[in-house]
Formats: sequence, C-alpha cells, structure tokens
Amino acid sequence: MSTTFQLDTATSRANPTPAPMKRLTVPKIQAHKADGETKQPLVMLTAYTARMAQLLDPHCDLLLVGDSLGQVIYGLPSTVPVTLDMMCAHGAAVVRGSYHAVVAVDMPFGSYEASPGQAFESASRILKETGAAAVKLEGGEAMAETVAFLTGRGIPVMGHVGLTPQAVNALGSYRARGKTEAESDKIIADGRAIAEAGAFAVVAEGVMESIADRLTEALACPVIGIGASAKCDGQILVTEDMLGLFERVPRFVKRFDDMAERISGAVAGYAHEVRSRSFPTADQTYRPKS
Ligand code: KIV
Repeated sequence: MSTTFQLDTATSRANPTPAPMKRLTVPKIQAHKADGETKQPLVMLTAYTARMAQLLDPHCDLLLVGDSLGQVIYGLPSTVPVTLDMMCAHGAAVVRGSYHAVVAVDMPFGSYEASPGQAFESASRILKETGAAAVKLEGGEAMAETVAFLTGRGIPVMGHVGLTPQAVNALGSYRARGKTEAESDKIIADGRAIAEAGAFAVVAEGVMESIADRLTEALACPVIGIGASAKCDGQILVTEDMLGLFERVPRFVKRFDDMAERISGAVAGYAHEVRSRSFPTADQTYRPKS
C-alpha cells in the first residue's frame, strides 16, 4: 500500500494534514536515555486511524498502532484474533496521519512466535506496507533470539514485558504481574534479555511499581511504562482510555476527559434536531444563488 498521495485531497476529510516536520527516529528515541538517565520522559499513545494520528502527533514522541485495536476498534474480546492485515491497514493510516512521532506497529499474536524467520516475514511486511519505523512484540527470554534476528537485519524492535495481553489464555487474567519474588525476577530477566538482544525500548505493562523501577534502572534502553511507575523513561496509555471513551477504566488509567459523555450529549442533540426538523437549516442546505 502506497503511503504517498498523488490525488489532490484539498476537499477531502484527509485535510488538513499535519504541518510537515522532521520525523523523530529510532536512534533519537534510544539516545533519549543517556548513561542510564532520562531527563524528560518520552510521551507515547496508541493510534489506529489517520485522524487520531493527526491530533496526537504534535504532542507525542512515539505512536503505537497497538493490537489493542482488536478491542477498541473491532469490539473483539481480546487481542488474540487480531490479524496482520488489520495491523498493516491501520499502521499505514497512522503513518499517513503523522509527520513527527516514531510510529511502531504491534506484531499480532501468531505472526512471530514460531521462528525468527516467521517474525522477519511479518515484520518486513509491516514496515513495507505501512511506512512505520519499528515493530513491537510481546515476550521476554523466549523472544530474545527473534529480537536479535530482526534487529540484526534492520528492523527496529520494541519489546513488551510484564503483563503481555496476547498471552491471556496462558496467564488466565489481565491482573498485574510481579507479586511474587519468582515472578518479579522473571520480569527483570525478560526485560534484560530483550534489551540485550537489541530492542531499542521496552514496554513494561501491569507490573508492581518496584519492578518497573528496577527495570528502568537495569536497562540501557528506555523503559516505557503502562500501569508501571512514574520513574519509567516514558509512559504510554491507550488513547481511548485516557480520553474517557469507555465506561470501564483499568486502575492505571487516568481519564483526561470524558468523551463518552460529550459524544453522547452531541448525538442526543443531533437526534432531537433531526426529529423536530430543526436540522438542517438554511445554513446547511444548498440553494441556487439569487
Ligand atoms: O496494544 C497496545 O495498545 C499495547 C499498549 C497498551 C502498550 O500494547
């Protein structure tokens, strides 16, 4: 799928596009953490559509086309059924809607776990079809060989440890991880393995704060927290969660707006005006010029 437009889209909803600027790069994100220290935390949010990417891009260092789109966009019960086709289509839309942030695309369940070769096939398809700069995959020590294989072949990889939602069938729930010493040691070992294999950043999701702090201290690359710790090198949230689009909010989410309420109010106003024939008015209808 081409990411460059030849069409004049001046009258399309695809306009306005964000003002072109120099896009951040993976090495710049990596260099954000120097000598184990991050002065200003990295800002990362999920995006699945071009319009949302346009709105988020000026404020974010990284945009993640997360496989959480399974639940958020497609109403699926988990991320397990998400396909490579879905990720490529949404990844391309987000790249088209952004100029500034590094765009990373999640590798969906089943597209990378079998072998490094399978992961390369899937990741190279994602980069070719979307124009994104990086992929993200879940898993720790078991995925280290794959991360090394991809990074050694020019594919920047972001890791994801702690609560790994694609493993929900094995984990049994979405509860926070690291409550026992064995579990916390495993999360640290997972983070180390992925970072040493060449990941340029690692997401730590749903882990005890003390583990997130240990991980942030231990890894040379940036650790991006979600349900983790304020001391992480950056933070990510699912955009629709922080905008207040869902009734159910996980404990680690702060709602920065209540958009569900506001959309509901706007739609109720529209429905009322349609039924009472007060919309459309002369302002919204076409008449011959007199
Ligand atoms: O899929 C996703 O949105 C994610 C983030 C929550 C880290 O993996």
